[in-house]
Amino acid sequence: MGKSRVLVLGATGYIGKYIAKASAQLGHPTFILVRPATLDSSKKELLNSFTAAGITILHGDIGDKESIVAALKQVDVVISALGMPQLLDQLNLIKAIKEVGHIKRFLPSEFGTDVERVSKIKAIQSVFHPKVEIRNAIREAGIPYTFVSSNGFIAYCASFFFKENLQVPPSDKVTIFGDGNVKAIFVAEDDVGLATIKAIDDPRTLNKQLVIRPKTNILSLNEVVELFEKKIGHNLEKNYIPASVIRAQLDELPFPDVIFPAFAFSVFVNGDNLFELGPEDVQATELYPDLEFTTFSSALDTIV
Ligand SMILES: NC(=O)c1ccc[n+]([C@@H]2O[C@H](COP(=O)([O-])OP(=O)(O)OC[C@H]3O[C@@H](n4cnc5c(N)ncnc54)[C@H](OP(=O)(O)O)[C@@H]3O)[C@@H](O)[C@H]2O)c1
Repeated sequence: MGKSRVLVLGATGYIGKYIAKASAQLGHPTFILVRPATLDSSKKELLNSFTAAGITILHGDIGDKESIVAALKQVDVVISALGMPQLLDQLNLIKAIKEVGHIKRFLPSEFGTDVERVSKIKAIQSVFHPKVEIRNAIREAGIPYTFVSSNGFIAYCASFFFKENLQVPPSDKVTIFGDGNVKAIFVAEDDVGLATIKAIDDPRTLNKQLVIRPKTNILSLNEVVELFEKKIGHNLEKNYIPASVIRAQLDELPFPDVIFPAFAFSVFVNGDNLFELGPEDVQATELYPDLEFTTFSSALDTIV
C-alpha cells in the first residue's frame, strides 16, 4: 500500500507548517491549500520552502466550496490546522468531505487538550465549544477521524512565558498562573508534526484521540521556570497570579478577552491536560516508540 496523499489546510499558520513539512518528510505526496492573497505576502519564503520540500501548493479558501472540492479530489487524508477564528468554517469542509465520499481520514484543527474533558466552568466550555461542535459534526457525518491532543507547543509556550525575559534588555520578572505546581504537558512543534503524520495511516488511531504525552515533558510552571533559570544562569522574580483572581476573570471578562484566562485556568489551575485516558485514547509514545520526543529542556536551548 502506498503512502496516503495528504491535504493540509492552514499550512501557512503556526502549527500547520510543521505538519505539512512532516508529511513531506515522511514521504507522503503533500498538498496545501493557500489563499490567493497569501501567495504574495510576507509568507513567500515559507511557501518557497514548501515547494523545495516537494509540497504542491493549491489555491483556495475554506469559504470557497469549489476550491475545497477540487483539492479533496487530489487526496486521501485531510488535516486542518486552521486558526481559532476559522474553526467553525470547518463545517463547510466536513460537508464537502461527506460529499466527495473517498476521504479515509480527517484530522480537524485541534492540537491542544481534549476539549470534551475540560473543566465545566461556563467560560472555559464556551472557549472550547467550536472544537466540540466540529467533533460532533464529524461523528454525525460518519467521517473517519483522528483527534490530536498535542498539548502545549514548547516554543510557542516558552516564548509566551518568557517573552519579557527574552527581549533586550531582559526583564527579571516572570508571571506564574496559580501556585505554579499543577502539571501540564508540552510537546515540541516538530514532534507534533511527526506524530500527527504517523497517525494518519495507522488503523490504531482510526476514530480515536491521539494523545501526545512525552513523560519528560509533564512539568509544572515552577519546573518550567526553574529550567529557564538554569539556562540563563540566574533566578527570576516570580509574580504569582492567584487561582481566585483568574477564576474571577472568567465570570467578568467578555469574549474574546476571556480566552486567555480560560486557557490559563484550564491548564495551570485545573490541570485539564492530564485527564484520565479512556478506551477512545491512544498514546503517541506507545504507538511510535521510534519517535524521540524533544525534551522541554533541550527545546529551550534553541530559544534562549
Ligand atoms: N497547543 C498549543 O500550544 C496551541 C497553540 C496555538 C494554537 N493551537 C491550536 O492549533 C490550531 C492551529 O492554530 P494556529 O495558531 O497554528 O493557526 P494560525 O497561525 O492562526 O494559522 C491559521 C491558518 O489558517 C489559514 N486560514 C485562515 N483563513 C483561511 C481561509 N479563509 N481559508 C483557508 N485558510 C485560511 C491561515 O492562512 P493565511 O496564511 O492565508 O492567513 C493560516 O495558514 C488551532 O486549533 C489552535 O487552537 C494550539
